[in-house]
Amino acid sequence: MGKMDRDIERVLISEEELQRRVAELGAEITRDYADKENVVLVGILRGCYVFLADLTRHIDLHCRIDFIAASSYGKGTSSSGQIEIKKDLTDPINGAHVILVEDILDSGNTLAYLAQILQARNPASIRIATLLDKPSRREKSVKADYSGFTVPNAFVVGYGLDYAEEYRNLPYIGVLKPEVYEKGE
Ligand code: IMP
Ligand code: MG
Repeated sequence: MGKMDRDIERVLISEEELQRRVAELGAEITRDYADKENVVLVGILRGCYVFLADLTRHIDLHCRIDFIAASSYGKGTSSSGQIEIKKDLTDPINGAHVILVEDILDSGNTLAYLAQILQARNPASIRIATLLDKPSRREKSVKADYSGFTVPNAFVVGYGLDYAEEYRNLPYIGVLKPEVYEKGE
């Protein structure tokens, strides 16, 4: 058992399941955008980095990759609703078909805010691809166009998702033992 594995209550989604589903999403995006030009995948840092890296290698299209960083979480496990842009896109997106790539759609506050900000820059379209969806916690009506897995109302880490900036490098998605985050709150 590895150092981080000890803090995990149970494996929710294994490496194999992640790879299989991410490949499906990539194929779906490839089909949907086959006749489009100017496709940009916008990763929402930092949680997107593993998902985006795997997803893009299953997308057979000419596309650009850009990043945006937003934060709503402090050290805790629930959203504050206050979103702040920490790093903006490097390039303009006017006329582009934008796919926002997120690790998890939880309250919806982050994606609702980012979609609104980016919409004002006149892209040709905006869609949302999220690895995980936690619909039980939704506060804003945001719908993912591409969603990997629906997850229960538990705090999950791994495959890019963090708790207090750690556990992102776990290769699977696991439920964090509550005693780990209760200690920090
Ligand atoms: P939202 O704004 O509440 O939808 O939250 C989106 C962000 O909250 C995600 O990008 C994650 O960084 C973080 N988040 C929400 N739920 C979890 C979780 O279960 N584990 C780790 N991060 C989470
Ligand atoms: Mg995040």
